[in-house]
Amino acid sequence: MATGKVWLVGAGSGAPDLLTLRAARVLQQADIVFHDALVNPQVLELAAVAKRQAVGKRCGELSSTQRFINRRLIEAARRYANVVRLKGGDPMLFGRAQEEIDALQQAGIEVEVVPGVSAMFAASATLNRSLTRRGLSRSVVVLTPRIGQGCADHDWARAALCADTAVLYMAARQAQAITRALLAVGMSAQHPVVLVENASLPDERVITATLGELPACARELGHGPALVMMGEVYAGLMAQVQALQPKVA
Ligand SMILES: C[S@@+](CC[C@H](N)C(=O)[O-])C[C@H]1O[C@@H](n2cnc3c(N)ncnc32)[C@H](O)[C@@H]1O
Repeated sequence: MATGKVWLVGAGSGAPDLLTLRAARVLQQADIVFHDALVNPQVLELAAVAKRQAVGKRCGELSSTQRFINRRLIEAARRYANVVRLKGGDPMLFGRAQEEIDALQQAGIEVEVVPGVSAMFAASATLNRSLTRRGLSRSVVVLTPRIGQGCADHDWARAALCADTAVLYMAARQAQAITRALLAVGMSAQHPVVLVENASLPDERVITATLGELPACARELGHGPALVMMGEVYAGLMAQVQALQPKVA
């Protein structure tokens, strides 16, 4: 049975020119591309000769199950030489890459990962604020408060409290619960927080707040993907962000 190779490719945070040269080359050589619903259409255009299949959460119930995606990748690799699974940001961060890698390797299929620019790096670039800073931040925790199916909850709030800088993925729409949990473990209501929506895209949006103000500020977000970032590195950001985004209070 002919067996192709599957590439797990990071599409980056949204802006097409943040795609790596390697990702562009792999897309140009692809026979078929399975992509997340949110991947920028300009990135998909690079896969000019490939069949394109949208998969992922926003594409209906059937396609959203990870087992279904794994099966389709395996079937495609038995038919085509170059199969691309294109994911938002970096595939190895909150991208369920490990499930796909394990399923493909168990089926005897070669897999290669192409890194991408994760949302937190695009957001940091927008803010002109480094996640780390000598004398202020030497630890960064990247977490999601969301509990995946079959996962046990864990003490994410304490992890956020212990790090100098915390980046929360898939969190902005649970701002009230998050704030409650962080206050309960002892984080100050004055702790600096910043919300970044659609980082790296033309409609990106920045809202600065304190932890106490987070629930009200999160209600100002639109429908785009957003990060909640917190820590002293974001103190004093307000004036600069207002200059950058005059519409945001
Ligand atoms: C399933 S995770 C995928 C993360 C992705 N693998 C990465 O490395 O950025 C989706 C979450 O990433 C964040 N996200 C993705 N793209 C974003 C963007 N352009 N701006 C802000 N947050 C983004 C949001 O928190 C969203 O809910």
